[in-house]
Amino acid sequence: MNYDVKDIGLAAKGKLRIEYAGQEMPVLKLIRERFEREKPLAGVTLAACLHVTTETANLAITLKAGGANVGLCASNPLSTQDDVAAALVAEYGIATFAIKGEDNDTYYKHINAALDMGPDMTMDDGADTVAVIHSERKDLLKKIIGGTEETTTGVIRLRSMERDGALQYPIIAVNDADTKHMFDNRYGTGQSTMDGIIRATNVLMAGKVFVIAGYGWCGRGLAMRASGMGARVVVTEVNPLRALEATMDGYQIMPMAEAAKIGDIFCTLTGDINVIRKERFAEMKDGAIVANSGHFNVEIDIAGLETIAKSHRQVRDFNEEYTLNNGRRVYLLGEGRLINLAAAEGHPPSVMDMSFANQALCAEYMRIHAAELEKKVYAVPMDIDQNIAALKLKSMGVNIDTLTAEQVKYLSSWEHGT
Ligand code: ADE
Repeated sequence: MNYDVKDIGLAAKGKLRIEYAGQEMPVLKLIRERFEREKPLAGVTLAACLHVTTETANLAITLKAGGANVGLCASNPLSTQDDVAAALVAEYGIATFAIKGEDNDTYYKHINAALDMGPDMTMDDGADTVAVIHSERKDLLKKIIGGTEETTTGVIRLRSMERDGALQYPIIAVNDADTKHMFDNRYGTGQSTMDGIIRATNVLMAGKVFVIAGYGWCGRGLAMRASGMGARVVVTEVNPLRALEATMDGYQIMPMAEAAKIGDIFCTLTGDINVIRKERFAEMKDGAIVANSGHFNVEIDIAGLETIAKSHRQVRDFNEEYTLNNGRRVYLLGEGRLINLAAAEGHPPSVMDMSFANQALCAEYMRIHAAELEKKVYAVPMDIDQNIAALKLKSMGVNIDTLTAEQVKYLSSWEHGT
């Protein structure tokens, strides 16, 4: 088996952590047990480009239990947990290509190594695998039946490929399942981003002005947590509806040009490019902390920051101090990459349980239905989404009501009014 990990000697530690995380992933466990019996992915080679974490390990093990031959590479150069990568190879026999801190060339070498396994399916987080296949590895297209995509940014890229007529196989947008974005993007990103910022800085949140760029599901989640820890939350938005929502949720809204002057901590979660530009850094207070929790490291204009900095040094893990020409210091976290995965461990397993249950069930769905699908981006089938919600509630010991026959009849009738 081919693999490339930092240190295979870390495998024992990784295995313990994978098992520990697995205890918080009951829905995925149920799926794994069924997959072991039914082998729905027998004969499928699956190239997965995901953050290599304890949670992803539990997904990879589930896919393998279902009969898949899995090749796993990282979906971000800084998100790999090296002990997990080692354990996947040594303890679970899963071909893994991922090293925390890998450079750009190695990142793409690893994607290509997973693709060299000749996938029938792809599983992406950010659509880098799909992009490589459609540009440099078109030879692989004839074998691929379909794929899945984990995140908002990836779904946006794929829809743009679909619009351009470029997409060559069907993809299920796992991100768009309710049991994914309502929980992973909101509660997962909210908690893990806060975790990453705190680990990189040890800053006290109480009393700080916390500026959040982007009020999508991730921004909402982070705003809740920052506010809950005593920070004064300022939101910047371009979308009037979202800005209105943030206002009525009790936050202060203003353009970044104003927020830059008053913020203590800044975090971008927009999915777009150059959200904090060079001129904003010069306006920030001395000691401002700047981080990103959007998928790619494009939201903070680091090149611009470097042009107005007279010196630069690393002061803690994932924390670089830039002293600007105006004498003020700005702290850039995690090289502007996803701070929750760079400086912390990403979302907790309990929330990834639902995201990855969607991934596993959508891989199975794709295996069965690929021939009926067009070269388009598809929603997660409603019954998969509902089933995951029901199983998650059950695993949490939460019971809900069911409609009476009279209520079902009422909801499907139109005769009753005032
Ligand atoms: N994305 C966000 N958190 C994650 C995690 N813990 N594992 C895999 N992907 C993630």
